[in-house]
Amino acid sequence: MRHSRIGLPDNTKMTAIALLQKALVDTLDLRLAVKQAHWTVKGSDFQQLHELFDSFVEPLDDEVDTIAERISILGGVPDGRAVTVGTGSKLEAYPLEGGAGKSHLEWLADRFAALGDHIREAIDQADDAGDADTADIFTGTSRFLDKSLWFIEAHLPAAEA
Ligand SMILES: [Fe+2]
Repeated sequence: MRHSRIGLPDNTKMTAIALLQKALVDTLDLRLAVKQAHWTVKGSDFQQLHELFDSFVEPLDDEVDTIAERISILGGVPDGRAVTVGTGSKLEAYPLEGGAGKSHLEWLADRFAALGDHIREAIDQADDAGDADTADIFTGTSRFLDKSLWFIEAHLPAAEA
């Protein structure tokens, strides 16, 4: 770990870097999944969903960038290499074959929800480790994921609680 003048204890920095690295890999994987959906969606609602799925790419890139840069800021080395994402992502692999809009909406909803759960755990873990700034980054990511999930689920028949 590179030395920095940031006054957090080394073990706090190391814990935060590990949490950020896990989040980086999964968020990069989700970013790839929304492009896969953008490219392979079929059906009468193609145009709308093709555009909806692409609308998630830029905000996901922003989240990825913020997470990766926080690793560098804390003195770590962000690893966003394809091999690392391919072997390390905790998200289920996105189906290769395209499908109707409803299938993609469900596949993406599952993945946005799963990543949201991972990131919410990371908020608490970063907080417990004593890095409020990393917890704040995760909170922003979580807020974006939840809002995106709302956009996706709004297209699906409601399962009322
Ligand atoms: Fe495109």
